[in-house]
Amino acid sequence: MSYSIAIDGPAGAGKSTIAKNIAKKLKFIYVDTGAMYRAMGLYFLQNNIKIEETDKINQACSNVNISIEYVEGEQQVLLNGENVNGLIRTEEVGKMASSCATQKQVRLKLVELQRELAKKTDVIMDGRDIGTYVLPEANLKVYLTASSKERAGRRWKELTDKGIKCDINDIEKDIIARDEQDMNREFAPLKQAEDAILVDSSHLTIDEVIDRIIELYQHKS
Ligand code: C5P
Repeated sequence: MSYSIAIDGPAGAGKSTIAKNIAKKLKFIYVDTGAMYRAMGLYFLQNNIKIEETDKINQACSNVNISIEYVEGEQQVLLNGENVNGLIRTEEVGKMASSCATQKQVRLKLVELQRELAKKTDVIMDGRDIGTYVLPEANLKVYLTASSKERAGRRWKELTDKGIKCDINDIEKDIIARDEQDMNREFAPLKQAEDAILVDSSHLTIDEVIDRIIELYQHKS
């Protein structure tokens, strides 16, 4: 039986940085499910499909191929065979990902791929519905969060370090809007699973969060 760790939480809580690190330490595969929603969002943007166009969305769900491969331990998302890792990290794609994640048919398509990956090997998977819906039997579930102010501050620093001009209040507004959309959608919304352990990273360093989760893992296994 493979072992699975589910990390859920709102945007910008540090899930992917932390999950990636833990995967290296434990020799697990890191599965970034947000990247899959981003790839679908990219497809909708590239093809000018609006979220109200149910027929086109249904068609896309049957025709579009999303797959995952690993190159030197790094997850690569392929959209119809093309590696789109370099195209999915923009705010525009993030917003579209969040909109298309409200669509049940999109979720069902991606959840199938996510469950398939977790069947084969030990995984640490991050997202919004991993502990509640994708892997309800996960061996360890963590709900990782931080205040919206803290998350906006981290994002602001990341962008400013890259030389990108931005306003911290706008970033916080966007983060809150994304959380609301994720928490209030009908199908598989973002919420803490009953058996998930809450980790608030507002006043913790990345290393402290990693150590805390590894401790939880050692305790459980
Ligand atoms: O985590 P990331 O910001 O890359 O995810 C992009 C969007 O995809 C999220 O805002 C969320 O709406 C959606 N998502 C989701 N369920 C997941 C992972 C991501 O709904 N398991």
